[in-house]
Amino acid sequence: MKLWGGRFEEGPSEAFERFSGSLHFDRRLLDADIRGSQAFARALEKVGILTAAEREQLVSAFDAILADAQTPAFYDGAHDEDVHTLVIRKLKDRAGAVADKIHTGRSRNEQVSLDVRLWLRGEIDRASTLLAGFMQALLDCARRDPAAVVPGYTHMRRAQPVLWAHYLLAYFEMFARDHERLQQARARVNVLPLGSGALAGSGFAFDRDAIARDLGFASITPNSMDVSADRDFALDFLYAASTTMLHLSRLAEDWILYSSEEFGWLELSDGVTSGSSLMPQKKNPDSLELIRGKCGRVFGSLSSLFVTMKGLPLTYNRDMQEDKEPLFDAADQLCGSLEMARVVVVSAKLNAARPAAAVEESWTVATDLAEALARSGTPFHQAHQLVGRLVLESVRAGKKPGDWSARDLAAFAPEFTAECTVALRPSEGMKTREIPGGTGPRHVAAALEQAQSRLDQFRQ
Ligand code: ARG
Repeated sequence: MKLWGGRFEEGPSEAFERFSGSLHFDRRLLDADIRGSQAFARALEKVGILTAAEREQLVSAFDAILADAQTPAFYDGAHDEDVHTLVIRKLKDRAGAVADKIHTGRSRNEQVSLDVRLWLRGEIDRASTLLAGFMQALLDCARRDPAAVVPGYTHMRRAQPVLWAHYLLAYFEMFARDHERLQQARARVNVLPLGSGALAGSGFAFDRDAIARDLGFASITPNSMDVSADRDFALDFLYAASTTMLHLSRLAEDWILYSSEEFGWLELSDGVTSGSSLMPQKKNPDSLELIRGKCGRVFGSLSSLFVTMKGLPLTYNRDMQEDKEPLFDAADQLCGSLEMARVVVVSAKLNAARPAAAVEESWTVATDLAEALARSGTPFHQAHQLVGRLVLESVRAGKKPGDWSARDLAAFAPEFTAECTVALRPSEGMKTREIPGGTGPRHVAAALEQAQSRLDQFRQ
């Protein structure tokens, strides 16, 4: 069965049918297609195209199709062009002649926009819930080791001591922005396109606001041509999915390093690692590597749809059918990665002694020391030079910051006062960073509380 054909003398070639058919992937929209069509049947009744009895007949036939679709045999021998065609064929089988009225004043161009929006709204909600669960895992992880100190890095070189919790809260901020971006994408998605017709607006006086309310949309689209031509709402989601994956990928990269023997900070659980078929000692961080790998795949989906849309003349073009596979895949990879990342974080153990030793061994306190000098009156540039020379001397002599006594320091340079010796202890230097956004311990404890209440709000 086709939703068109009167104007044709011959049917489509087998090659064209195989090439253009989308049922094997757009069947994922079946649920949305049916819910949208049920609302449309109610709208058709209100404009007098369907009687109440006919509307009831169609709505319950749609319900029956939804139930049928749960059985694997539902798709047996289905060669329909797309999911919309399949649903109409099933509707005819169930409801008979009245099914012929369901496309009155409705085009597949707006229908496909509607279906994708309904489906995507659900996926965004699923992803947001998983994201919030993962963010909770980050906060719980921070709370397990509230006093742990790690070296913060720049250029992948030890830079300054920070609290482990401060490091985890940096990721919390990235994911909080991602959560916002997902909600912004949801607002763009949550607009009713129905009533736009093929491109010029429907020829039937539907109450579009009533249809929007029926389907839970916040508003209606203002321009029919825009509806047929637009996939921005899908791009918005793909962008939000991409930044979320970017952040997951960077966390994965950090943790692959931190759990290596070279670092030894983190122990990943057996449940998220795998062994080697040859090397018996191996415990590989495959879960994190796959998150990093899938990130590239989601970026690919974003650029794929960008490139598909570039240069399309207004309004609908069949190229746009290529939106679905990247969109479906991105949603699956995003949700799968969020779920995996949560399990990794929940089950990881920090071996706090290792990063603490890394902080003590190297000169991560050099900045604290230079700032202590500046506080006691040495101009900062001179303080910087002086501490630089102290580090050079220490490197030559194999001395760690903790090896310097107050007397040795004062002998090295008279500018070093007693206050300066205190700054050689990483935990002391952090206390000077009680500034909003800084790693000062009291500030971090408060930031952790604030993060928790923001997360609680996301969840409402
Ligand atoms: N399967 C099509 C798509 O996904 C549905 C819209 C078809 N419209 C058309 N005029 N051929 O884009």
